[in-house]
Amino acid sequence: MLKFLVDHARCTQCGLCATDCPARIIELDDYPTIVNPDACIRCQHCLAICPTEAISILGNDPENELPINNAFPSPQQMATLIRGRRSTRQYLDESLPIDVIEDLLTTVHHAPTGVNAQQVLLTVVKNRQSVHTLREAVYTRLVQAIRDGENNDDMRMEVLGWAIKMWTKEGADVLFRGAPHVLIASAPQNCPTPLPDCFISLSYFELLAASAGLGSLWNGMLKWTLDELFPEFRDRLGIPRDHLVGYVMVFGKPAVKYMRTVSRTPGPIRIIDWKEGNGTGNS
Ligand SMILES: Cc1cc2nc3c(=O)[nH]c(=O)nc-3n(C[C@H](O)[C@H](O)[C@H](O)COP(=O)(O)O)c2cc1C
Repeated sequence: MLKFLVDHARCTQCGLCATDCPARIIELDDYPTIVNPDACIRCQHCLAICPTEAISILGNDPENELPINNAFPSPQQMATLIRGRRSTRQYLDESLPIDVIEDLLTTVHHAPTGVNAQQVLLTVVKNRQSVHTLREAVYTRLVQAIRDGENNDDMRMEVLGWAIKMWTKEGADVLFRGAPHVLIASAPQNCPTPLPDCFISLSYFELLAASAGLGSLWNGMLKWTLDELFPEFRDRLGIPRDHLVGYVMVFGKPAVKYMRTVSRTPGPIRIIDWKEGNGTGNS
C-alpha cells in the first residue's frame, strides 16, 4: 500500500511530482495520481519535491520532514571534511552510547541504494568489552591457523601473521586498532546492487562520523579475517548466510587529533568530448 495522498487544498497542480518520478507513474488527472503502483520504487521524490507540502506517501507526512532551505554544508565545508577525514588507528578505550550509534546508523540508512532496495544491514559490535572478547577469539583463531598451516600459500595469511606478531610481541593491536566498535555492512546477494550499496553506506558513515568528531577506519584485515578466511566469525556475528559482506570498519572516539588536511598527488581525471563516429577519439 503506497498511501499516496494529495491534499487538494494545497496542490497547485504544478506537475513537479510527475516529471521527477523516476518510474514515470504519476499522472496529472487534474490532481496527481499514481497509475501503476507496482512500479513505484518508494523513493519519495514526489513528497520531497512538492513546493506546497501537498503530497504524503507511505504514511510519511511532509510536515514531519526536515526542510532543506540552505541547510546543507557549504562546498568548502564538504571539501574540508572530505580532505580532512583521516583513517583513525588510535582510539580511546571507551564505548559510545548506543543512542549515538543508532543516530549515526539511522542517518546512514538514507544513503542511496540501487533501485532504492534499502537492504543494507549495518551490524555493530556494541561496546569495548564485546570487542575485547571478539579480539581474543580472533587472535586465538589466527594463531591456531598459522600453527596448523591453514591457507599457507595465501598472501593474506602473511599479513595476518605480521598482525599476530605485533600483538604477541609488542601488544600492538593492528587488527582492531584498539577501537571500541566494529561495523559490518552486508546486503542480500540477490538485491540489485549489494556491494555498491554497502560501500556507499560505509562512505557516508565515515564522513558523518568524522563530522561528529569520531574516528573510523576501513579495515581490510578484519574483512579478510571475519568474512573471507574464517567465515565462522561472520556466522557468530549473525551475518545472514545469504548476505555479501561489503566491508568492515572500526570506529570510536579518537585518541588523536589531526590538525590539517594533507595534499594528494592529483588523481587522474578525464573531461571528455564525445564525437560522432569515433567516440572520444581514443582507439
Ligand atoms: C578498502 C580499504 C581497506 C583498508 N584496510 C586497512 C587496514 O586493514 N588497516 C589499516 O590500518 N588501514 C586500512 N585502510 C586505510 C588506508 O590505509 C588509508 O585510507 C590510506 O592509508 C590513506 O590514509 P587516510 O585514510 O588517512 O587518508 C583501508 C582503506 C580502505 C579504503
